[in-house]
Amino acid sequence: MPCLILPTLAVAHSVRAAAQTYGEDLMPAYGSQVVDLADSELQGYVEGLIADAREETARPLGHVPSTHLWWVDGHEFLGRVHIRHRLTPFLLESGGHLGYHVVPPWRRLGHATAMLGAALPIARAMAMDRLLITCDTTNVASQKVIEANGGVLEDERGGKLRYWVPTG
Ligand SMILES: CC(C)(COP(=O)(O)OP(=O)(O)OC[C@H]1O[C@@H](n2cnc3c(N)ncnc32)[C@H](O)[C@@H]1OP(=O)(O)O)[C@@H](O)C(=O)NCCC(=O)NCCS
Repeated sequence: MPCLILPTLAVAHSVRAAAQTYGEDLMPAYGSQVVDLADSELQGYVEGLIADAREETARPLGHVPSTHLWWVDGHEFLGRVHIRHRLTPFLLESGGHLGYHVVPPWRRLGHATAMLGAALPIARAMAMDRLLITCDTTNVASQKVIEANGGVLEDERGGKLRYWVPTG
């Protein structure tokens, strides 16, 4: 039974393998952080992801603290979700609180729907009552994932559908 976990070294090997196999299709920007890492660098990668949840961690301008969670079956990486702790004007307009990906061979098996469902109580425990989740107007799969988790469409801005999803 898959579950959401904080990043671990044991699973990082599987994340790297997925990034090497599926490249940009796996997760733009995210995959490129891990694809070329040596074994000795994976622990630092994991610690960096965990540290991103802390306010005091240095991060690029405009980025906010985020909790990174991996959807795993044992040590196998199936997907990921990250929860941004607050919205900036850009995130309110189009980025939203939460992003997710499922590794290509695991798609269309209900994982994204279950993964988002598992992320909601975690966000609630972080004192977030509702999450803004956005997706392209053309991303039918993501629309279904959001709606299956109670998402209420607010509007469309710049080709993005903006949904509010209650966390409880
Ligand atoms: C979008 C994504 C996360 C969906 O993951 P998934 O695990 O395949 O989703 P699920 O299996 O939970 O499927 C949810 C619904 O979408 C449908 N679906 C999945 N992929 C689909 C596709 N390519 N085309 C049409 N419908 C699709 C499923 O049949 C299911 O429909 P149902 O509820 O009527 O049965 C995955 O395709 C992905 O990682 N895409 C790239 C990144 C991305 O788009 N992330 C979201 C950004 S907002």
